Amino acid sequence: MTIRVEVLDSPGEVAGDVADRLLALAARRQADGGVPSIVLTGGSIADAVHAEVARRSAGSGPDWGAVDLWWGDERFVAADSPERNEGQARRALLDHVPVDPARVHPAPADTGQGLDAAAAAYDAALREQGPEAFDLVLLGMGPDGHVASLFPGYPQLEVTDRLAVAVPDAPKPPPARVSLTCPALARAREVWFVVTSAEKSAAVARALAGLALDRDGAARPTGARTDPHEIPAAGITAHDQVTWFLDTDAASDLPPR
Ligand code: 6PG
Repeated sequence: MTIRVEVLDSPGEVAGDVADRLLALAARRQADGGVPSIVLTGGSIADAVHAEVARRSAGSGPDWGAVDLWWGDERFVAADSPERNEGQARRALLDHVPVDPARVHPAPADTGQGLDAAAAAYDAALREQGPEAFDLVLLGMGPDGHVASLFPGYPQLEVTDRLAVAVPDAPKPPPARVSLTCPALARAREVWFVVTSAEKSAAVARALAGLALDRDGAARPTGARTDPHEIPAAGITAHDQVTWFLDTDAASDLPPR
C-alpha cells in the first residue's frame, strides 16, 4: 500500500479536485467492464465534494445507473431527519444524477427496530451485496481524529469480526450511529481522506506522524505511527493507496517537505 498527500489552496479546490478524480475513477472502472463501488461519508467537506460531483457530471460523467453506493457511517435517526448522512448525499448529489435506487445502500434509519438490529442489518447487507473490495472509500476526519463513526478510545475500533457496528454513545451528536469497522473500511482499493480547516491540522499531523513526505506527495515510513486508539485515522489502510486531500490550513502542522 502507498500513502500520498495532496495539498490544495482552499476547501473549494479540494472539493473540485476530489470530484474530478472520483468521476475519472468511476469512468475508468466502467471502461474496464466493472461496476464502481463507492463508499460515501458525511460532514461539511463531503457535502462540498458531492455538490461538485453533481455539478461536474452534468451532461457527461460515468453511467450513474451502474454505480454502487454505500456509506462509511450513518446517524441512527428517523429516515426523514436532516441529520442523516444519506439525506445530505441525496440533496447534494443523488437527486441530481440518474442513480439506480437498487444500487444505493444506506444504513437503516431508526424505524423502531433498535440500533443493534440496524447495525446487524447493514453488516448483512454488506456481506450479501457488498463487493469483495470497494473501489473507493471517501472519509472525512474530525478534529479528534475520528473517521466514519470510529472515535478515539472507543471499543468499536477493536471490532474485527463484523463489517458494521452500532455506536450508541458517539461524542459527536447525534449519539446513535452505525459505522463500518476498520476491516470493512480497509476492504478498499483506494481510501481518500478529505480534510480541510485549521482546527484539524494537529490531528492531520498526528495521523501522518512517522511518515516523511517527498515534494511530489509520496509518503515514506520513517518511524513509529500514531496509535489508532488515539487517532483512528492513523489506522486506516487500503489495498492499493491511501490519499490525503488537504487544504493548506489542514496541512499547516505537517513538517516541511
Ligand atoms: C458524521 C461524519 C463524520 C465526518 C467527520 C468530518 O456522520 O458525523 O461521517 O465522520 O466525516 O466528522 O466532518 P466535517 O467535514 O463536517 O468536519
